[in-house]
Amino acid sequence: MPDLSRLLVNQTSDLKYQTLELVTTGSFNKGLSTVEATWVAASGFDGKTDTLCPLPAEDGTVSRILVGTGKKTPGAKNPWWLAKIASMLDAGTYNVIGVSEKTIAAGALGWCLEQYRFDRYLSETTNKDRILVLGAKTNIDALIHNVEGAALTRDLINTPTENMGPADLQDAAEKLAESYSGQCGTIVGDDLLDENFPAIHAVGRAAATGREPRLIDLRWGDEKHPKITLVGKGVCFDTGGLDMKPSAGMRLMKKDMGGAAHVLGLARMIMGHGIKVRLRVLVPAVENAIAGNAYRPGDVLATRKGLSVEIGNTDAEGRLVLCDALALASEEKPDLILDFATLTGAARTALGPDLPATFTNSDTLWKLLETSAEDVTDPLWRMPLWAPYDSTLDSQIADLNNIANTGLGGAITAALYLQRFVGEKIQWAHLDVFGWALTSQPGRAKGGAAQGLRASFSAIEKFIAP
Ligand code: BES
Ligand code: MN
Ligand code: ZN
Repeated sequence: MPDLSRLLVNQTSDLKYQTLELVTTGSFNKGLSTVEATWVAASGFDGKTDTLCPLPAEDGTVSRILVGTGKKTPGAKNPWWLAKIASMLDAGTYNVIGVSEKTIAAGALGWCLEQYRFDRYLSETTNKDRILVLGAKTNIDALIHNVEGAALTRDLINTPTENMGPADLQDAAEKLAESYSGQCGTIVGDDLLDENFPAIHAVGRAAATGREPRLIDLRWGDEKHPKITLVGKGVCFDTGGLDMKPSAGMRLMKKDMGGAAHVLGLARMIMGHGIKVRLRVLVPAVENAIAGNAYRPGDVLATRKGLSVEIGNTDAEGRLVLCDALALASEEKPDLILDFATLTGAARTALGPDLPATFTNSDTLWKLLETSAEDVTDPLWRMPLWAPYDSTLDSQIADLNNIANTGLGGAITAALYLQRFVGEKIQWAHLDVFGWALTSQPGRAKGGAAQGLRASFSAIEKFIAP
């Protein structure tokens, strides 16, 4: 995991830095000396968004750098406004002037995440640290928790399955628990049957020795605080099982533990900020593999809740491992359950790669999520738990089927499947995320992506506020 915390420093009297002066298309040529004005005009700089113009000092060094922000100066809600600029600068320490400290602090996230690299497998790595100066009173630790939460999520997703199997996810959760004095216990392999997690076992049982299915259970915080439980889909690789995926559909399936990566990243934020919750994180970690002992289409699985499930398709495995984890989560009646999962292609067909499909049984919880998403510029989109579709999950020979009898509305029917395993009176939200950036955007490199983490964190803060 890269150390991005080195990229932010507080202002001190003896700190040496280069100045970045923000200017707009309306202000770029104001207040300049004659020499500077000539230089700016000759270089063609006009304050357009994400353009730079270093200004010369008398002695030929750079006195300060003008940074164009277009027609307007950036707003305090936008975390990405500094990201492209950071990428255009040389290594060094930079102090931004011309905008509020709040706006600079917001941009610090994009500044740091722009410099995120997944370089674990590269024989040569380049480090070109661009350090951002923040006001003496700005709480850098708080900013760093958000950066490192997202970076942890990205790292876990980017790591190929060979190095990110169920046991590796367990290691990651244990390391995280240890660094914040939490506890982490895991039920592995055939013990899942003794402890009544039959669906997690069935999905994961075809994986190789050492890569057995497991349920990871992390706990942190004071039992007296509101009980928040996070559940993350940890399918370390999804071949589709015996109803195998075609090669194009399988290519990215190292990311099918993206839900687990999200809840661990969110846990990193919650524990780092030290908010007053009793946190529990449940990750059913499996490989949906193919072998002689794989579960089959047409099989009927038992589940922890006692409902029997007919297998219409072994590629609808996420909901199977999640349903045992959600049943366990519900047993202690927590105040809130949030689950993250790379659950359906249908959610992507509906909303594209960047917008998490968000389902919840609580309108008040949705209000918190919606306002939080807006506050921190981390979008979410609500989708309906449309009760009339519930019967599409009927089975002739079992209590329900793991796929709907219609191919339509697949993200909804998957969410309805999950809802059957959540305690009725528990406030619950389900985020069907892609967990991947198909193309690079400023601050968000192509590859593993954290989606809805900051919105969820902010919603949890509001949820527990008295
Ligand atoms: N992990 C996939 C869903 C997925 C695929 C998410 C591609 C993002 C990109 C999941 O396990 C799956 O295979 N779902 C099936 C369900 C179907 C068999 C009912 C799907 O979405 O096609
Ligand atoms: Mn699948
Ligand atoms: Zn899957």
